[in-house]
Amino acid sequence: MRQVVYILCFFTICTFFRCTEDKLANPLDVELTNRLQGLSATGSVTDYALPDDGDYASIPQDPQNPITEDKISLGRMLFFETGLALAPARPYNEGTYSCGSCHVPTAAFTAGAVQGIADGGVGFGDNGEGRSGIQLYDPSEMDVQGRRPLSMLNTAYVTNTTWSGKFGSDFANEDTEHLWHLDPATEVNSLGLAAMESQVIEGFELHRMVISKDVMDDLGYTQYFDDAFATVPTRERYTRKYASFAISAYLRSLLTNQAPFQKWVKGDMQAMGDAEKRGALVFFDKAGCYKCHKGPALNANEFYGLGVKDLYETGLAFDTDENDKAKFGRGEFTGAEEDNYKFKVPQLYNLKEAPFLFHGSSMHNLREAVDYFNEGIPENPNVPASQIAPHFKPLYLTEIEVEELTLFLEKSLYDPVDRHVPEFVLSGNCIPNNDQISQRDLDCN
Ligand code: HEC
Ligand code: HEC
Repeated sequence: MRQVVYILCFFTICTFFRCTEDKLANPLDVELTNRLQGLSATGSVTDYALPDDGDYASIPQDPQNPITEDKISLGRMLFFETGLALAPARPYNEGTYSCGSCHVPTAAFTAGAVQGIADGGVGFGDNGEGRSGIQLYDPSEMDVQGRRPLSMLNTAYVTNTTWSGKFGSDFANEDTEHLWHLDPATEVNSLGLAAMESQVIEGFELHRMVISKDVMDDLGYTQYFDDAFATVPTRERYTRKYASFAISAYLRSLLTNQAPFQKWVKGDMQAMGDAEKRGALVFFDKAGCYKCHKGPALNANEFYGLGVKDLYETGLAFDTDENDKAKFGRGEFTGAEEDNYKFKVPQLYNLKEAPFLFHGSSMHNLREAVDYFNEGIPENPNVPASQIAPHFKPLYLTEIEVEELTLFLEKSLYDPVDRHVPEFVLSGNCIPNNDQISQRDLDCN
């Protein structure tokens, strides 16, 4: 008996050490670690790590709006609360839309459709793809924009929000004060808040939502505001500003920190397979993606032209056409010709769930996006060659490299975010939409 135990012990120890040895010896881990250390400003792979859930202190935030659990709980509901939808263009659409109409969690917090539609839209489908315009609305009455909704994931790392980066008074927008009064929306930058807090204040206006003491009493949120903003004088408490503070805290907590690449970065070498690791090496080396997609969110607060098509060119979008200045990207905000056709570098997590990619929804999956970068030929002839980023050129990746890079994007950069979605909102309404067709699509009754 004792011998059997010895032999078992021997095998266990053997296997254990072999495993550890194998783990350390995987040359892909060594290579990827070296590469990421080389790219990082501090020489550490943890430059790519997102904070863990609950580690609020490590999340980038506006010092005027420190992240707290109470703010997140309130913001999580307000974001999906169709009870705020009290200023529609036509009364019968009241109480039917929310922020989540255009930022669907299971579509990487994008619309799930070619274009986001809040007021003036109806239906949901399985994942946002079934939303369409209400016939009785003239397109000019609808709440729609001339570019695709951005993801809400990892927006804590966005210093200047929207595709043109027009919100926020600092970072990319330093010395742009003279531009803020040109667009009624960007006047909010004068408050000196971070981009997120500023944009969301403006968002309630743009998206026809009402925040007031009466509405909060009606829906049942008063106590939540009291808990989250106890030190704010009551006459200022139930306002757009503090509703924005709550939603901003929630959005900053939306981190894809459980994605396999995140686990790998934090030391779990088994979290990614070899093909994914090779794909990561293509991303961070030969394909040059790392030159623009940087840091924990793989984004950048910088603007580049890739020559992709605009939303109106899909032929499926409302209230946008070739005269829509949205096509100028950063240039729409700055008015400077050298900024025209340049768009902000978006984050890259969970995009396998986004059925439309790029600001004009011109591509439908990550393989198409990778092929586009690999071919390096602008698809939009209206974009002057002078505005195309110099890094956008043929990459000459092999078929295997293309496949493994795509696998890295699809699999290693994916973290299902169910934990961040509320089960209900206080109105009891259906989320994220509450019109009759959406209620049916979402099984709300
Ligand atoms: C009608 C669709 C629609 C609704 C409703 C909507 N959004 Fe958006 N959202 C967009 C679009 C489109 C963009 C990109 C805008 C641009 O580039 O001009 C965007 C961008 C954003 C961004 C910037 C993200 C980044 O990385 O720069 C934030 C933050 C945001 N929305 C938050 C919200 C909040 C909060 C609400 C509710 C108050 C909301 N949105 C409601 C369509 C919508
Ligand atoms: C020159 C800077 C630059 C480089 C290099 C670059 N990107 Fe991007 N990427 C961007 C910008 C800017 C956008 C948004 C462009 C737009 O929609 O007009 C973008 C968009 C994307 C999107 C679509 C995201 C979305 O939400 O729609 C994906 C996917 C993507 N990039 C992946 C990659 C991969 C993979 C590589 C390497 C092969 C790469 N990028 C290289 C700047 C860059």
